[in-house]
Order: sequence, then C-alpha cells, then structure tokens
Amino acid sequence: MFASVINWFEERLKLGETLGPSMTHSVPTSARWWYVFGSMTLTIFMLQIVTGICLSLVYVPSADEAYASLEYLNYRQHMGWFLRGMHVWGSHLMIAFMTIHMIQVFLYGAFKYPRELTWIVGVLLFLCTLAMGFTGQVLRWDQDAYWGLGVGMAMAGRVPFIGPELVYFVLGGPIIGGEALSRFFALHVFVIPGTLIMLIGAHLLLVIKCGINEAPTPGHLVNKATYRETYEKEVHKRGMPFFPNAAGRDMIACGIVIFLVFFCAAMFGPAGPNGEPDPTLIHTAPRPDFYFQSIFAVLALLPPYMETFLIMAFPVLALGVLILLPFISGDGEKSWKRRPFSVIFVIFLLLVLGSLTYLGYKSPWSPIMDAWSGIPTPTQYVQGRSPLELQGALIIQNKQCRNCHMLEGRGGQRGPELDFVATRLTRDELIRQVVQGGGNMPAYGKHLSPSEVTALVSFLMTLHPEWEHEPGAEESNVPRPTTGP
Ligand code: HEC
Repeated sequence: MFASVINWFEERLKLGETLGPSMTHSVPTSARWWYVFGSMTLTIFMLQIVTGICLSLVYVPSADEAYASLEYLNYRQHMGWFLRGMHVWGSHLMIAFMTIHMIQVFLYGAFKYPRELTWIVGVLLFLCTLAMGFTGQVLRWDQDAYWGLGVGMAMAGRVPFIGPELVYFVLGGPIIGGEALSRFFALHVFVIPGTLIMLIGAHLLLVIKCGINEAPTPGHLVNKATYRETYEKEVHKRGMPFFPNAAGRDMIACGIVIFLVFFCAAMFGPAGPNGEPDPTLIHTAPRPDFYFQSIFAVLALLPPYMETFLIMAFPVLALGVLILLPFISGDGEKSWKRRPFSVIFVIFLLLVLGSLTYLGYKSPWSPIMDAWSGIPTPTQYVQGRSPLELQGALIIQNKQCRNCHMLEGRGGQRGPELDFVATRLTRDELIRQVVQGGGNMPAYGKHLSPSEVTALVSFLMTLHPEWEHEPGAEESNVPRPTTGP
C-alpha cells in the first residue's frame, strides 16, 4: 500500500531519478568535520522559518500594537517566550555558524576555481542574513529597535546624492513611525526570506555541480586547465557517497545545532522588548545585537569627521574585496598552511571585530546621556529675552536637548553645538528639525505642543554669535532674526 503510493508519486515527479544521483554522488573522503558548518547554518535557517511563522501568528506589525504583542508573547501566551527565545537565538547562532563556515571556506581555499560563483552567492547569503538580523531587530519595536533604526538611517542618510531619498523610501516617511514598521515587516517576512531561499537553492545547486572542495594538501596547486579532471578522478577513485557517509556527519552536526538553539532559548530566553520606543526618552542605553556591536563601537569611538568616510567607504570596500576575492586569487595554493597572509588576515579580523564588540558593550552610548540635563542654560542666553523665548529655554531644559547638544561647550556631542544654530538654519528648518528629527535626532513632534514648538524655535532663533559677547544687545545694529509666532 505504502509502496504503491510512493510509486504513484515517483512515476509523476521522478524525484528519485533527479535527487538520487545528487544524494549518492561522490564527495572527497577528506571532507570531514570542518565541512558541517554550512549544513548547520541551513538547519538553523529552516528552524527560523518555522519559529518565524509561529511568531507571525501573534505578532501585530503596527506601531501601536507591536510592543504589546511581544509582551503578550512573553508573558501570556503559553511557551511564547520560548518561541521568541528560539527565534532570537536562532538568529544569533545562524550568524555565528555562517561566519565560521565562511572562514573555513576561506582558509580551505574553497572559493578558488571552479567554485567562484558558489563563493559569491555565499557572500550575498551573508548580506541577506545580516539584513534579516537588522530588520528582525527593528520588529522588536523597542528602545533598541528605535535607536538602532535611527543609527542605521543616519548612516543611510549619508549616502551621496540619494541619501535623504533613500531614508525616506526605507522609512516610508520623514520619521520613524508605523510606516517604517510595515516596511520592515514586509522586508523581514517576504522580501529577504524569499531572496534567501532562492540564493540558498543556487548555492546548493552550485555545491552539487562543482563538487565539494577537497581538503587541500599543501603543494597541490589549483590549475584551471586540469583541476576538474583531477578532481573527478580523485573523487571516483577515493571518494565516498555523500549519503550516508558525509550526510551522517551533517545530521549529527544539525542535531547539535538544534540542541544549541533549544538550550540557549531555555537558558537565556528571548531578547527584549526593552522599553517602549519613546523618541524623547534618552535615559536609555540601547544596544544593537552582537553582530552589529562592532559598528556601534566604531560610531561611538570615532571622531565625527571620520564617520562619514568610514560609514560609506568601509562597507563598499569590504563587500568589493569579498566579491572580488575569487578573481584576485582564483587558482594556485589552497592550503592555509601555505597561505600565511590569509591566516594572519583572519586572525587580525577576528581580533579587531572581537575587541570592537567588547568595546561596543563597554563603551557608553555616546555620549553618556544623563550627564547634562541638569546644567542650567548659560546666563547670556536668557538675559533680555522675551517671555516666549524664555519659555523655549525652559523646554530645552525639560526635554533634555543638551544630552546631545552643547551650549557654551557643555553638553552631549551627539548632535551639533546649538550656540550659533540660528546662523545655520532658518525658522522653518528649525521647526522641521525639532518636529521631525532626522539624522539621528529623535522627532519631538508628538511630544511638544504647537505652542511649545513655537517657543522652542523662538529661543533657538536667538542663538546667534553677536549676542554671546554682548549680553542684552538687542539694540545692536545686527538685524535680529524675527521671533515670535
Ligand atoms: C539623541 C540625541 C539628540 C537629542 C536628545 C536632541 N538632538 Fe537635536 N540633533 C541631534 C543630531 C544627531 C543632530 C544632527 C542631525 C543631522 O546631522 O542632520 C541634531 C540636530 C539638531 C538641530 C540642527 C542643528 C544644525 O546645526 O543643523 C537642531 C536645531 C536641534 N538638533 C535641536 C534640538 C532640540 C531643540 C532638542 C530638544 C528638544 C534636541 N535637538 C534634542 C541629536 C539630538
């Protein structure tokens, strides 16, 4: 009975005919435990799909309800916290194992002829997975998500020419709000996973077509003219069938990785959500997930004048090198024992990323956010001001703008000094900056009444150099920018 059902399908699908050879194709015997990390990554990805679908049954992708739906999952839904834990630890582990897989492929020279395309597709998979991490973090819609997105958009905003449009496109509007959440939901649930699945298909197909890389022997050089022939011969003479030999090892590794995900979820639980996203709440130490900590640290530690260059140039350079790698060094020596430069490079990279990640956890959210709000507004900025302007000065104090902005050299350094801001921006631009935020400044639109905005901007309009040295110099010949509503 069972056999006849199988036969019915087989007759129509001819699956056995198609898949059979790829299951039993010969692989080099030298492909041992170092070769399991790709399968491990794939296993976690499949697990992520399952847990992700389960989560999406409860999660509400709306700015008003996302946070509550996560709390519901954490505290009310039976085993909801565990599901969230599995999904977040799955994401961490997927990135970790994918990195190990990439390093192994790099050290074993598996990116060389004829597997260049496999490598390039792999690099794209790496990018997509990081993008999944980033968009997933945003869906948490908490403080971390809000500030992470803020930093991400500040980086995107610096892309030459199209920066502002790009930010607008990604966020679906000028501020981080419900539109942004909808877009990130669509990206995280449809666009990127769809791309990932297609790329994984291509990756696996290429692995089968080009054969699994043999463990390199020092001195065995890759020669484009003869490589394929020798590979086929070797594999036929001394290979083993993929199933069950190599596949068995893969399965053990997959079992281990599934156990790891369960273990971490049970031990460490879900991530966040850490506080509702409130743009005016800066008494927070938001942290990106670990794989973005290093970027976070670089941003926090770099002097501002280097930021733009690094933010723009570094990812492009790194991606370029990764994609060009098989063309730069597509043949010759494969063994890491004869490629000292590659080994040093990997160690160097791991050290840099490791110490930056450490610093990212250690270094304060730049700047230390609670240090400045108590400082009084400098006297010369309040002398001789109209009541409306004084009210604006109070709002600067109450809304803790100086956590990020300096006045008279004291305050945070996240945003520009405000001392002479009236010389740089017009009234309208000031209103827009305060209401909509942007460039890594929170939007205050929802947290200030229109009259408060008027007062605040009137005060900002008085921040002009001439009056700094001449307190109460309203009568000077310098034309005073119009104030008042
Ligand atoms: C979390 C940090 C942060 C807080 C809090 C903050 N800002 Fe900003 N602000 C920034 C950043 C960063 C920029 C630079 C934006 C850019 O580069 O486009 C900025 C820019 C500005 C600018 C434009 C300055 C210029 O020269 O272009 C004004 C004006 C301003 N902020 C006013 C305020 C006011 C008023 C408040 C309080 C209600 C405030 N900011 C609170 C970070 C902050």
